[in-house]
Amino acid sequence: MKEVVHMMLSEEEVNSKIAEMAEKIDNDYKGKSIHLICILKGSVFFCCELAKRLTIPVTIDFMSASSYGDSTESSGKLNIKKDLDESIEGLDCLIVEDIIDSGNTLSLTQKMLAERNPASLKLCTLLDKPARRETEVDVDYTGFVIPDEFVVGYGLDYAQKYRNLPYVGRLEFVEE
Ligand code: IMP
Ligand code: MG
Repeated sequence: MKEVVHMMLSEEEVNSKIAEMAEKIDNDYKGKSIHLICILKGSVFFCCELAKRLTIPVTIDFMSASSYGDSTESSGKLNIKKDLDESIEGLDCLIVEDIIDSGNTLSLTQKMLAERNPASLKLCTLLDKPARRETEVDVDYTGFVIPDEFVVGYGLDYAQKYRNLPYVGRLEFVEE
């Protein structure tokens, strides 16, 4: 099978959306500092572009987690592969995600972070695939709502490939 990437959102479209999101976040956090929690690895590209466009004071930390076990909220377990370096107690935190799919990992991550007593904890995502949702998550800032397609680029991967594409593309598998 050959992999073909079809452009879905151009670099210009993505960047102008991120600028819009940054403006909204700037307004909402006026007079405050914001602590960005970047979820590795996919969100790195989005997080950098967002951070560059914010004018309020910004700090950034990184974490990597996956969920395992039953996918229901009550029994799902969070496997933290890399935890945050610093405490988030008393900080206004914004989780930065590349895409929300089932919502399973993210809802567990939100719950775990909320227990660490941040002053506030919001969520922003570049892409949302609501058709695939299994666990409800409250999203505060959404870039694009997309159909149920597998997408790559702008940080998103397929088998660790394509993260470096400057645009978001739909991945198609075709017979050779
Ligand atoms: P979930 O919301 O817990 O299912 O996890 C979402 C994670 O799955 C994202 O952070 C991505 O790493 C990955 N993911 C979901 N959909 C896609 C996609 O279309 N392309 C690439 N990665 C995806
Ligand atoms: Mg991810």
